[in-house]
Amino acid sequence: MPVSRKPVEVIAPKARDTGAARRVAKLVARIGGVGAADADADAPRLEGKIGRVSLIGCGPGDVELMTVKAVRAIMAADVILTDDLIADDVLDLGRPGAARIRVGKRGGRASCHQDDINALMVRLASQGRHVARLKSGDPMLFGRAGEEIAACAAAGVAVEVVPGISAAFGLAARLKVSLTHRDHAQSVRFVTGHARTGALPDDLDWAGLAHARTTLVVYMGARTAPDLAKGLIGAGRAATTPVVVAVGIARADESFAAMTLGDLVELPAAAIDGPVLIGIGEVFSTVPASVASLIEVAGA
Ligand SMILES: C[S@@+](CC[C@H](N)C(=O)[O-])C[C@H]1O[C@@H](n2cnc3c(N)ncnc32)[C@H](O)[C@@H]1O
Repeated sequence: MPVSRKPVEVIAPKARDTGAARRVAKLVARIGGVGAADADADAPRLEGKIGRVSLIGCGPGDVELMTVKAVRAIMAADVILTDDLIADDVLDLGRPGAARIRVGKRGGRASCHQDDINALMVRLASQGRHVARLKSGDPMLFGRAGEEIAACAAAGVAVEVVPGISAAFGLAARLKVSLTHRDHAQSVRFVTGHARTGALPDDLDWAGLAHARTTLVVYMGARTAPDLAKGLIGAGRAATTPVVVAVGIARADESFAAMTLGDLVELPAAAIDGPVLIGIGEVFSTVPASVASLIEVAGA
């Protein structure tokens, strides 16, 4: 499905302050590495500066799930280029004077073109700015980091990568499910449900994915989940295999649904709003159908 091209969007400064960003910023400042002057200076910093890019993993959504290094880099940046999935609390970590620019790419929706993002990032850094390029989860997993690192390298712009907690590990933590529980799985696979065309990739390793003792974590698979489930069952994975569909992990609108692979064939993708991660495999057999209430009871 062709996806329309969207211009970048500058985010207007907000008066709103949830307090979460301030709390985390204070903690990091106490540890050291970012002085108050760095965090508060308002003027764009250009003269005599050598620009650079920090590709920063911001985790699944909760600002407290970020690394100290990520928080430091955001607090010190001159410009923040952010993906759509980054929470407002994370953007609030930036200095008041740092420009915040949304360069979102959303499957099936109007998206900024990767070439435009690369060009903007390189131009800002070449002008002497420290660019914080924010990505959800970990930048090196389904994050187009390879293309952005190559663009920086081609332009002679220094780039650092700050790892983050990928959505898969957010899911495992929230459900208290080990993705490689040795009774159930000896490997785990991160799978994309979204090829360039918007459909399921046509070169998936069905035999490997259907292996009963492999845990699958499917990213960007909301619309293609029924096809994936049919393909897995066709390749020999049991229709009774436990499945968890997680929406907005570690976010205010987080929700989970436990089902089987057979049920996934009927998943009404249109009804789902927000980022969706799908866990498939016997490791999820401990997740009860009432998973949401389980989490509430545990107070996690
Ligand atoms: C472009 S990929 C980026 C993945 C990211 N680099 C990571 O490591 O989590 C975006 C997809 O990640 C998944 N995702 C990211 N954050 C999520 C969250 N908080 N809850 C559920 N899924 C999430 C969804 O499948 C979403 O469509």
